[in-house]
Amino acid sequence: MCATNSELTEISPIIKWAGGKKRLAPLIEEMVSQKFNLADIDTYVEPFAGGASLFLYLATKYRFKKQVIMDINPELINLYIQVRDNLQPLINGLDQIQDAYNILSEEHDLAEKKAYFYQIREDFNHSLLLAQDSSSELGSEQNIEQAIRFIFLNKADFNGLYRVNSKGTFNVPFGHRKQLNLFDVDNLSKFSNLLQNTEILLGDYRDTQRFAGPKTFFYFDPPYRPLSDSASFTSYAKSSFNDDSQIELATFTKEITQSGAHFALSNSDPHQSDPNDNFFDDLYADFDIQRIQAARMISARSKGRGNVSELLIIN
Ligand SMILES: C[S@@+](CC[C@H](N)C(=O)[O-])C[C@H]1O[C@@H](n2cnc3c(N)ncnc32)[C@H](O)[C@@H]1O
Repeated sequence: MCATNSELTEISPIIKWAGGKKRLAPLIEEMVSQKFNLADIDTYVEPFAGGASLFLYLATKYRFKKQVIMDINPELINLYIQVRDNLQPLINGLDQIQDAYNILSEEHDLAEKKAYFYQIREDFNHSLLLAQDSSSELGSEQNIEQAIRFIFLNKADFNGLYRVNSKGTFNVPFGHRKQLNLFDVDNLSKFSNLLQNTEILLGDYRDTQRFAGPKTFFYFDPPYRPLSDSASFTSYAKSSFNDDSQIELATFTKEITQSGAHFALSNSDPHQSDPNDNFFDDLYADFDIQRIQAARMISARSKGRGNVSELLIIN
């Protein structure tokens, strides 16, 4: 049975994702609410979904008539379609893979578990490359195995990262976890219920333009513009997101604004590394640019760097 949104409280992202907005979601809601009333929004669109933290936070509080999440990463979108359409087989498969890992010996620095991890990673990449070469349908039953591997790798790898190389294959190393707890059945079921009423799209954010209108709210959380070369983390997917991509996105936000749509957009604050770098201040000069404090998970010893400022741009 499909729950109404009001019954869906406190759903957490089911995967860890670089740049996840779980902790910032209440602040983003507060800042957006100063500009317009989210209760007046009919259509919620999150074109750079990743772990979809803001979607989970807002969609359980507001009754959006229409909800759209999109990402350019096919494995992630396949996972969400499987959660929506094949929940029980997914749960069964997760139970199996979790048990298979957890019963392996912990001796010799987890050698057995390590070998198991790399076998699953190889299977995942094999299936990923096959899908690139064929027209295999996302969310189809044969892709349920891929969704199970996705969650396994995300929880068993180093730091819960999803990172790919230039061929698009997943390359995060083993995380040395003794035991895995891959999912929370209650959370996963609530997420599945929420997704019953959600369009899940694979593709480029520009394809969401058709949803723009006066009662639509877009939340853009693109790959962040790196503050320095060493801080670069842009490999969520095969294609990279460079300064030209950021400029195109700014043009897109102006186009949807003309159609009356509301939006909020997150990005890094270039002033962190160079006070004279006004890249986003210039690009989004027509809009409200706020600098908000985002807590970062960094070593307790790196004094004073626990909070960095990032941008929240609202039209
Ligand atoms: C910063 S992450 C989003 C994090 C998300 N807000 C969360 O809470 O987990 C950016 C996402 O954009 C996706 N992406 C990159 N380029 C894209 C594009 N052109 N169109 C749609 N999604 C894209 C990446 O695969 C990645 O999942």
